[in-house]
Amino acid sequence: MKYEYAAAPLDAVSAERLATQGLDLALVDTSDSEALATWLQAENRGFHGARLPQSKLEVQLPHIAHRRTTGVWDPDSADAASPVATVSTWVMDLTVPGERSIPAWAVTAVSVSPTHRRRGIGRALLEAELRTAASLNVPVAVLTVTEATIYGRYGFGPSVMSADWTIDTTRARWIGPEASGTLSFVEPETMLSDGYDLVQRVRLQSPGQVKFTGILWERLLGVNGDPESTKSLRVVRYDDDEGELQGFAAYRVVEIGEDFTSHRLDLAYLVSATDEAYAGLWHFLLEIDLVSTISAPLRTIDEPLLWQLSDQRAVRRTGVREHLWTRILDVPVALTARRYSAPGIFVLDVSDDLGFADGLFLLTVVADGSASVELLTGEAPDDAAAIALTVDDLGALYLGGVSPITLVRAGRVTELRPGSAASLEASFRSPVTPWLSIWF
Ligand SMILES: CC(C)(COP(=O)(O)OP(=O)(O)OC[C@H]1O[C@@H](n2cnc3c(N)ncnc32)[C@H](O)[C@@H]1OP(=O)(O)O)[C@@H](O)C(=O)NCCC(=O)NCCS
Repeated sequence: MKYEYAAAPLDAVSAERLATQGLDLALVDTSDSEALATWLQAENRGFHGARLPQSKLEVQLPHIAHRRTTGVWDPDSADAASPVATVSTWVMDLTVPGERSIPAWAVTAVSVSPTHRRRGIGRALLEAELRTAASLNVPVAVLTVTEATIYGRYGFGPSVMSADWTIDTTRARWIGPEASGTLSFVEPETMLSDGYDLVQRVRLQSPGQVKFTGILWERLLGVNGDPESTKSLRVVRYDDDEGELQGFAAYRVVEIGEDFTSHRLDLAYLVSATDEAYAGLWHFLLEIDLVSTISAPLRTIDEPLLWQLSDQRAVRRTGVREHLWTRILDVPVALTARRYSAPGIFVLDVSDDLGFADGLFLLTVVADGSASVELLTGEAPDDAAAIALTVDDLGALYLGGVSPITLVRAGRVTELRPGSAASLEASFRSPVTPWLSIWF
C-alpha cells in the first residue's frame, strides 16, 4: 500500500493552536533545495550540530526530499526564513514477530529552537504527526530517541533495547564453530549494491528492524559527504561455499595511545544472514593483528558471540538502553500484523490520552500463531486472560522483547484476572530478541 505522507494536509488542530501564539505551522516544499537546506540547518542547530558544509548538504538533501518535512516559523524572528521548530516523517516497514512487516510512521528531526522552548511547540508538532499518521491509516509510529524522557507522554513505549559491546581481544579466544566460507576485502561502494538485498532480507529475522534506504543505508558504508570517514572504512564480505554473499562487516581501525600493537577496531556495521556467516565474520574480527579492543555499538543485547568466546569477562556490555520507541495507533491492525508464540484469549483494556488506541479489545490467538482482534462489547469469555494497560506499555510489549510479568511487577500493567501476565508473556514473547541496528 502506498501512503501519500509527504503531501497529506497539515493538521488543523495544531496549526490553530500555534497560530494563537503568532506561529506558522507549514510544510517545506522539498523540491526547493534552498528552503530544504535552511530547514536542515535549523534542525542541525537544534541538536547542537555544526553548520553543514555544502558537501554534506549535497549528500543529504536528495535523500530527505521524499520525507514529509514540517516546520514552525515565527514571523517576528530576525531570521524569519529559518524555522524555530522541525519534524520529519515518512512511512517505512517495521519488522514484527513472525518475519512480517507493518507500515510504520517514522518520526525524526524533532527539534524546537532554544529561543522557543517550553511553549507547547514540541507537543503541537508530535500530536500533529500522530493525527496525520492516523488519518492515513498508518497503524503504528516509531522513533529512535536522544532523550528517554520525552515520548512516553505521547503514547510511545520503549520496545527494543540495544547495547554497546567492548571486547578485549587479547583475552578472548574464539571457541565458536569454524566457518568454511570465504572472507574478502572489498571497496565499500561495491557493497552499496551487493549488500543492500542481503540487509533487507536479514532485517526480517529480527523484530524491530526497519526497511531503510537512501542515506540511512549509504552512511553505514561511509557515504556521508565526509571524505575522511570514507577513507578509513574497511569492508570485509563473507561468501558461503556456493559463493553466495551471506554477510559483511564494515569497520575502522584507530590508534589508541602510542603502542602500535594495540589499536581499537570500531565496528560500523556487521550483518549476517546465517549463523555460519556470523561466526566467520566475528572470528575474523577477533583475530586481526595489532588490535586489542573491538568496540561494537548498537548491537542486540543478546549476542551469540558471548557464547563463542573462551572468556565471557573479556566482554563488557555497556550502554544498554532503549533504542526503538513504538506507538500503537490502530490496535486491531497492529496486533493482527504480528505472529504469537502460544495460543490464548486476551482482554486488553487500553487507555490512551490522545484517544487513538483507547478501548476494550478481545485478542484471540490460534494455534498457528495468527490472531484476530475485535472490540469487546459484551462479557469477556471466562477463559480469557485480562489486563489493563496504557498505550505506551502496549507499545513496549508489542514486539515481544519486554515481559508483561515485569510490567505487572513494576506496577505499570494491571492483571484483571490472576495469572494473566504469564499467559500474555507466553504468547507475546518473541523467539528472537528484538533489535534495531540503525538510528533513523
Ligand atoms: C524536546 C523538545 C523538542 C521539546 O520541545 P518543547 O517545545 O520545549 O516542548 P513542549 O513545550 O511542547 O513540552 C511538551 C512536554 O514535554 C516536556 N519536555 C519538553 N522538553 C523536555 C525534555 N528535554 N525532557 C523532558 N521533558 C521535556 C515538557 O515539560 C512538556 O511536558 P507536559 O506536556 O507533561 O507538560 C526540545 O526541547 C528540543 O528541541 N530539544 C533538543 C532536541 C531534542 O532533544 N529533540 C528530541 C530528539 S529525540
